[in-house]
Amino acid sequence: MSLKITVIGTGYLGATHAAAMAELGFEVLGLDIVPEKIEMLRRGEVPMYEPGLEELLHRHVAGLEGSTGRLRFTTDFAEAAAFGDVHFICVNTPQKHGEYACDMQYVDSAVTSLAPHLTGPALVVGKSTVPVGSADRLARTIAELAPAGEEVELAWNPEFLREGFAVQDTLHPDRIVVGVRSERAEKLLREVYATPIAEGSPFVVTDFPTAELVKTAANSFLATKISFINAMAEVCEAAGGDVAKLAEAIGYDDRIGRKFLRAGIGFGGGCLPKDIRAFMARAGELGADQALTFLREIDSINMRQRGQMVELARQALGGGPFLGRRIAVLGATFKPDSDDVRDSPALNVAGQIHLQGGQVTVYDPKGMDNARRVFPTLGYAGSALEAVRGADVVLHLTEWQEFRELDPAELGEVVAARVILDGRNALDPERWRRAGWTYRAMGRPTA
Ligand code: UDX
Repeated sequence: MSLKITVIGTGYLGATHAAAMAELGFEVLGLDIVPEKIEMLRRGEVPMYEPGLEELLHRHVAGLEGSTGRLRFTTDFAEAAAFGDVHFICVNTPQKHGEYACDMQYVDSAVTSLAPHLTGPALVVGKSTVPVGSADRLARTIAELAPAGEEVELAWNPEFLREGFAVQDTLHPDRIVVGVRSERAEKLLREVYATPIAEGSPFVVTDFPTAELVKTAANSFLATKISFINAMAEVCEAAGGDVAKLAEAIGYDDRIGRKFLRAGIGFGGGCLPKDIRAFMARAGELGADQALTFLREIDSINMRQRGQMVELARQALGGGPFLGRRIAVLGATFKPDSDDVRDSPALNVAGQIHLQGGQVTVYDPKGMDNARRVFPTLGYAGSALEAVRGADVVLHLTEWQEFRELDPAELGEVVAARVILDGRNALDPERWRRAGWTYRAMGRPTA
């Protein structure tokens, strides 16, 4: 295979993309500005928990026993520029401090660090989630800075991978979307994806703004589905209905679909919350903010869920203050199969109760280190059983498989009161009730 690929930024997106490209047979050079990350990756270690990624790295990272040697890492932009025919930009675009807007500093600096070294034909491909209009601006930056002039082009190819499924989503994407300005760019990207990756995946070719918008629109739609069902949970709660049954029943309609209709404490993580906010901010700049006012409501329904979980916990304890009460929290990450606690609803709920004087003990299968770093004053336990010991109420806030498999009878032996609040609508109510527990979930009947 002749094309050589560089991947700039080795977070969960970049590390996965680099490893996947090597898996497909390309020679790949991954670049990150953090030397410690590069050192870890060179040893085949993954800087975060992502199922399947470590195995993939071990298969390809140069210097590791039995590897193909197709994947190498560097911190040097000049080396990357000289190496690659196609350069993927995979750096993160977090929310700006104290603002809704997206912080473009990492994308900007990746492009301005790479471009001056591009002396021959190359395609720079943005994968990061950016405000619409960024690709156009970056294309001009590249044209100004790259010595190779018109031989260097930009394309936009948004990534849709989910944490916890990053490898699977990269190797078997639902669709491949490319925003291009020339046949040459399209041809090169078709070559990159003319591998098992694209088999059965629709290949959508479009312009820059549409490609950028596909990503933000998709995430806004997903966020809307979750907040919609959470709004229905609120109504079910008031009317005595069952949101889980409601979601199942409306989901049988193909036009609605059953996915992303699980009510609970709402969405978090490094993508959905910041993406809908950045989208609103950008629409405002474009004079189209009226079109997205509904996203403000989506955001506010989502944030309200966390407060409602706190209130449910308060009610479960008899309605008084949390002071001196013991609250066990199962789950700290924003979703299972990830160690990511960014904007985690679980940690937010745990934190709110702690700040109101509750004695909170958290356990999470993979997120303990990150949770401790973000919220060092919470109590932490080494297992679910240890976390619930002596608890007046147990809160299930991230739906790890490990929690589904817990034995309610065994836990019942060590708690002070057999009360469990399921913030993810993911446990089997009957299993817990049979073992003598009071089971409560948002938007569902009490018994
Ligand atoms: C998301 C998009 O799914 C992905 O396509 C995009 O590339 C990045 O953002 P991710 O942040 O990994 O991926 O998480 P996702 O699986 O989408 O879950 C987001 C949040 O929604 C989690 O906190 C999850 O617990 C919550 N959620 C999801 C619900 O509350 N209810 C649901 O029915 C589904």
